[in-house]
Amino acid sequence: IAAEKNGYDHFMLKEIHEQPAALRETLRGNIKDQVADLAHFNIDDIFADVKKIYIVACGTAYHAGLVGRWAIEKLARIPVETEIASEFRYRDVLWHPQSLMIVISQSGETADTMAVLREAKRNGIRVLAVTNVVGSAVSREADRVIYTHAGPEIAVASTKAYSTQLLIMYLLALHLARVRGTMPLNELKELTGELARIDGLAEKVFEQQNRIKEMAARHKDVQNTFFLGRGFDYAVAMEGALKLKEISYIHAEAYAAGELKHGPLALIYEGVPVLALITQDHLVEKTMSNIREVKARGAIVIAICKANLQESCQECDEQIILPDVNPILAPIVGVIPLQIFAYYMAIFRGADVDKPRNLAKSVTVE
Ligand code: G6P
Repeated sequence: IAAEKNGYDHFMLKEIHEQPAALRETLRGNIKDQVADLAHFNIDDIFADVKKIYIVACGTAYHAGLVGRWAIEKLARIPVETEIASEFRYRDVLWHPQSLMIVISQSGETADTMAVLREAKRNGIRVLAVTNVVGSAVSREADRVIYTHAGPEIAVASTKAYSTQLLIMYLLALHLARVRGTMPLNELKELTGELARIDGLAEKVFEQQNRIKEMAARHKDVQNTFFLGRGFDYAVAMEGALKLKEISYIHAEAYAAGELKHGPLALIYEGVPVLALITQDHLVEKTMSNIREVKARGAIVIAICKANLQESCQECDEQIILPDVNPILAPIVGVIPLQIFAYYMAIFRGADVDKPRNLAKSVTVE
């Protein structure tokens, strides 16, 4: 087993570092003539008259689905509803007659996700699966399948599966935007060009690894943490908080920054770390005003911010700088520091990183 870790201490760290390569693998063959082209997955017929999309998943895959919602709505202008499978399956869904379902599942075996897939099919709704495992239950029963090429993911906490799921969400949004003509071709090509280089941007984040490790060493004894963001940053905050709680057992709460005043502000006390995602240029000032509120109550604010926004977030106590990237695509790079942070927090607390207590890689029973 040790050999499979390729010199890394844990599968999780190895898989975090495999992300640029996994992104490259997942990009391969999906961009042609500078535009995203997923026609080879045979999906154009099932999307032809679609007026509504449901995205359903569990855990980390659900967080990828949240990014998918924002990307598809923004670029391809199709209304999307993203929901947790265990909730969706017991809801009295008002199925839109011209709808399509996307299920996202690394393993392709999650019981709740499978149940929703079957329920959709019973209702005559076509299902597109996004999965990492060829031949999985989800891939067998869905009408169409798009594979992430993350390679085997061993650590219970998902990392490279998530970033490649995000990549598929963007490719799909760009593909649909092109087919539907919802974006000017030059803008489409520009964003696609940036997505085609996202593996290199992801690679650059590792330059900050030591800094993040030191940060984790400073904060390892905390009991509570908060993750804030708006828009795409909120989705990443949710994933960052999940990583931290899964493997370090520290209480981590993600909140939409604008919702702070409606509750969590009451929980802020002297010295509590607040990790703030700052990648959405048009929302920086809004998020900064929320940050001032937590700082005024003694929180230590760690900003994960894009290089071009560094100046705006100088008031933050600590900074992790992300390479400049289009805000729409920022989640792919923004999540990496949070994965590394969670990893080292768990290490410094002596937790079993690859096999966290009480959790399983794949939840095949309800
Ligand atoms: C478990 C795993 C998570 C994963 C979730 C959904 O909770 O520990 O890492 O995100 O299941 O799994 P799936 O295989 O459907 O993506």
